[in-house]
Amino acid sequence: MKIAVLGASGHYGAKIAGILATHEGVETVTLAARNAAKLEGVAAGIGSKATTAQVDLSQADVLRNFFGEQDLVVDCIGRYYDRLHQSVTAAIDAGTHYVDLSEMWDVAEHIHALNDKAREAGVTVYHGMGSTPGVTSMLAVLAGNELENTTAVHAGFVVATAAYFPDPEAFQLLERDGSISAVQDTIIELVAEKAKVLKAGELIVVDPMRDGPRLTFPGGASTPVFPVGMSLPLTLPTVLSGLQEVSTCMAFLPDRVINTLLEQGAAVNRGESNRNEAFHDTCADVSTHWQESTVIPEGLPGYAQWGLAFGERGGERTSCNLILNRPLGTEYGAAAAAVALAEGQQQPGVFSVEQAFEPMDFLNRIAELQYGEQLGAEDLTRHFA
Ligand SMILES: NC(=O)c1ccc[n+]([C@@H]2O[C@H](COP(=O)([O-])OP(=O)(O)OC[C@H]3O[C@@H](n4cnc5c(N)ncnc54)[C@H](OP(=O)(O)O)[C@@H]3O)[C@@H](O)[C@H]2O)c1
Repeated sequence: MKIAVLGASGHYGAKIAGILATHEGVETVTLAARNAAKLEGVAAGIGSKATTAQVDLSQADVLRNFFGEQDLVVDCIGRYYDRLHQSVTAAIDAGTHYVDLSEMWDVAEHIHALNDKAREAGVTVYHGMGSTPGVTSMLAVLAGNELENTTAVHAGFVVATAAYFPDPEAFQLLERDGSISAVQDTIIELVAEKAKVLKAGELIVVDPMRDGPRLTFPGGASTPVFPVGMSLPLTLPTVLSGLQEVSTCMAFLPDRVINTLLEQGAAVNRGESNRNEAFHDTCADVSTHWQESTVIPEGLPGYAQWGLAFGERGGERTSCNLILNRPLGTEYGAAAAAVALAEGQQQPGVFSVEQAFEPMDFLNRIAELQYGEQLGAEDLTRHFA
């Protein structure tokens, strides 16, 4: 199979291209983006399967021709919220299978509206194949399946500054750099823009980062988690029936970092700042208050991917907090979806991760790529609270 990675010089695109090149069913991996020199650097590290192509997403005809030369394109350019279904349309027009890491609910709405066209064209579209959506969508399904009469599911990640930046110098480098990557841009978008949640069985639009559930860890420590505008409220009800409440949530530890991000997001929303400035102002605040910003509250992990469900167990109302103890990386999620497609799991139409795969099958596909083995019982903690 001929695969191309769009945004292959980026943080996730380069990793995904490298993982795909190791798969025997993949003949060539074409690395595409605008800056040719950066692509050549990535290609050199991948070896003989890698070729490069200068492609600018904004040139629709170039994009369509480029898709036409490939069997599958993995789109890792990011800032998906700015361009909605642009490259999915190119994939359908060209008859080329498609995988992405997109997160936002409005992007998912646009992509799913293309379902009939994708089916007619015989094209498989897998969207949101990262960590959230992706891995944690599956944790929500698994948590939901632990209970009877499940009425609510939530999923997402908890991340402490200290886990990502154990070294203040690395952090200061990021702060001085001045540019902003697509994922950093998206974090600001998430705290600035409205979220969509399922409440009382209705999809509604709410302010971001307000009124989330509490996630409890084994040992009893708990943290609030905060709804943001990702796609799970649209997609999870299609595989779990009877849901009244769904949200996609994130939390940054400690609270100080959340509060700073919220202030910055509000400033972007009021037009007083932009996402680039907001990200760098957040970094500056963390740097100035390094000690307070890097404390991990007692009993909480530095990083957790989780799913949370509310329902019944043995006739009693309860919640199932399902925590993944071995992180499964975003890049391995997209690579696992692409490998499944390359191995013949092609099902024309548009699919979110929980619509496309069985939960444990997908998590184990990722674990095999990332760790060379399937998940063991100790890798998933189920905690009823
Ligand atoms: N679902 C999840 O769990 C999850 C997790 C992490 C990240 N993500 C998403 O993944 C996306 C990628 O993040 P990242 O941090 O890897 O991004 P990044 O490092 O900023 O990389 C962006 C890539 O896109 C290319 N690019 C930008 N504009 C382009 C254009 N107009 N035409 C062609 N190529 C273009 C860039 O190269 P040039 O500038 O040279 O063109 C670069 O290769 C983000 O949207 C992020 O939110 C999702």
